[in-house]
Amino acid sequence: MDLRERYEALKREIHFHNYRYHVLDAPLISDAEFDRLMAELRQLEAEHPDWVTPDSPTQRAGAPPAEKFEKVHHPRPILSLSNAFNAEETRAWFERIRKLDDRVEHAAFVVEPKIDGLSVVLHYRNGVFVQGATRGDGEVGEDITANLRTVKAIPLKIPVTDGRIGGGREEKQIPLFELTSPTHPLSSNIGLIPSYLVVRGEAFITIKDFEALNKRLEEAGERTYLNPRNTAAGSLRQLDPAITASRPLTLLVYQVVYAEGGDVPSTQWELLEWLRALGFPVTDIARRFTDIESAIAYAESWAARRDELPYEADGMVIKVDDLRLAEELGYVGKDPRGAIAFKFPAREVTTKLLSIDVEVGRTGVLTPRAVLEPVEIGGVIVRNATLHNFDYIAEKDIRIGDRVLVKRAGDVIPYVIGPLPEARTGTEQPYSPPHICPACGQPVEHFEGEVAWYCVNAACPAQLVRNIEHFVSKGGMDIAGLGIKIVEKLIESGAVKDIADLYYLTRQDILEAVTKKDRETEKEPPGKIADNLLAAIAASKKQSLPRLLAALGIRGVGEVVARDLAQAFGSLDALAGASPEQLQRVEGIGPNIATAIVDWFRQPQNQKVLDKLKAAGVWPVMHSSQSEQTTNGPLSGLTFVITGTLAGFTREGVKEFIEQNGGKVTDSVSKKTDYLVLGENPGSKLQKAQALGVKIIGEEELRRMVQ
Ligand code: IVH
Repeated sequence: MDLRERYEALKREIHFHNYRYHVLDAPLISDAEFDRLMAELRQLEAEHPDWVTPDSPTQRAGAPPAEKFEKVHHPRPILSLSNAFNAEETRAWFERIRKLDDRVEHAAFVVEPKIDGLSVVLHYRNGVFVQGATRGDGEVGEDITANLRTVKAIPLKIPVTDGRIGGGREEKQIPLFELTSPTHPLSSNIGLIPSYLVVRGEAFITIKDFEALNKRLEEAGERTYLNPRNTAAGSLRQLDPAITASRPLTLLVYQVVYAEGGDVPSTQWELLEWLRALGFPVTDIARRFTDIESAIAYAESWAARRDELPYEADGMVIKVDDLRLAEELGYVGKDPRGAIAFKFPAREVTTKLLSIDVEVGRTGVLTPRAVLEPVEIGGVIVRNATLHNFDYIAEKDIRIGDRVLVKRAGDVIPYVIGPLPEARTGTEQPYSPPHICPACGQPVEHFEGEVAWYCVNAACPAQLVRNIEHFVSKGGMDIAGLGIKIVEKLIESGAVKDIADLYYLTRQDILEAVTKKDRETEKEPPGKIADNLLAAIAASKKQSLPRLLAALGIRGVGEVVARDLAQAFGSLDALAGASPEQLQRVEGIGPNIATAIVDWFRQPQNQKVLDKLKAAGVWPVMHSSQSEQTTNGPLSGLTFVITGTLAGFTREGVKEFIEQNGGKVTDSVSKKTDYLVLGENPGSKLQKAQALGVKIIGEEELRRMVQ
């Protein structure tokens, strides 16, 4: 194979593994192996920039921010759907179209989920993804190609083949359904793929990814999002594709809008399988039925199980399977007669907004929370709902006493959609955000460019409660039994003024707090609670450095960043002395987190906390083995430096390999270096190692040391 062939084969292989991971959720290779393929591709592209095409896997990210979005005329109108809110209305729809065309009597139907996301239109020319647009008004949408390219579930090239390099099979373009869809094999073969193909799908964020995203933002002290749909829509309408790339968007494809120069299946059922065979993500809960009653029963069955869906769906779509018949049934306005949305019961209700509470978060962010007249939404009693932020209340003109529309979607926290101004009686009170912190009474502050208001009082008891809650949580120091009520009492009595004070608590302090706390509800005697708590606090002194770091609550330093920092710096002393530049050398740490870390260590009250922790013996350091799990591996106690390109490892991969086996990897050669691992085209580290007499090994030897 010459280099060019290798390049083409590599692109196919990467597309295939991307598909296995992002579409099928069934990867065949490890992340490290995938990274190695990408690194090889990047290397080839660096050497041959003229080879790079828009469908290269390297082209997903990296487009510069746009000034505005260009307009795109859709090749055919992007239609909408009419709704049915129950079985009765669905039967009425069936009757209407049956009267129009008697073929409907014996028609089959396909039932698919109606995902609540954003409709997108994807164009492929000669199998290459060339343009992507929003729906817009159905005739003209916006060109969001650069953003859609970052969505890994979108194939940049179709068909996605099985990707195997070598063996001479790749030119045959093995259809994926042979590999991926044993349940509904395609009746005909894939046919001639249209030279110009335009498909439509729904882009969205899964509920799980949405919650993880919000958790990450919360950890970073940033504003969280209201719901998956708005987040998906907002993410795709970013002018900077780098922002879109950071959001966990995915999609499912369900329609061919336009095709030229090739064959397209003639039924919806085959179309879905055909799209899947080409490498598009397609729902796996679609079913075909030969009568309308079974179709309705299937749609109803999902209405009852909607919480099992990984995404927000507002209904199921029932479609006439025969696409020619569906087309001939025509349209009512923008709604095709050949399909109907079977809507799930709305999880929106109206209730009275009794008052607005303000919560103070760990980072001091003030968030408004609606206190509602209790109301049932989809089987759950809702008493509180999020109001997003103070700007939101003002924008929506939400007043205390208003009837408000509240939505519960998926398992996401309920939120207030807006007021019903027509229901006002004149007694409603406009709301103004507090000028002082509701917990400590200190003035609140607003930072340039941010929507949030902050309580900046480092001694604010509400922040302290949240900080301690975070400090003792399972992912942190894991101090069982230190509930929020006891914490509040300990702060009230003055026994705890910062997190370090926990290590100076006496039995008496705890006894008082426990006794003040509602004793009736306690199952255990206060003495026992105090002893258990003291034991748990003492035990937490042995927590590892990554745990302690994550527990400190530094902005942007969650579990992952804490582990990386601990590995890179080894101790709090080293970390406290690190410059922003040094911090940014750690993978995953950008200027914002670096600044937050430096600022945190610079604050006098935090220095005091650290001194107290140290004096109490809470001062973990990382030993020669760098990762938490491997304190003794075959490479434990040994320090390695790597130079040049290794054939069987990426840079990250070899580092991981050494660390997992207990060794340590540093950037530069010194007298402390035990081994230099030598690859192709080594740098100056080789001479330095030779000069210092450091042992030089190849990757084979490295592997042997581990066996
Ligand atoms: S079919 C002729 N199928 O629901 C085709 N729509 O009001 C018309 N949607 O804007 C659309 N999942 O964004 C269809 N499986 C699905 C869908 C789906 C979600 C959205 C779509 C459209 C809205 C219909």
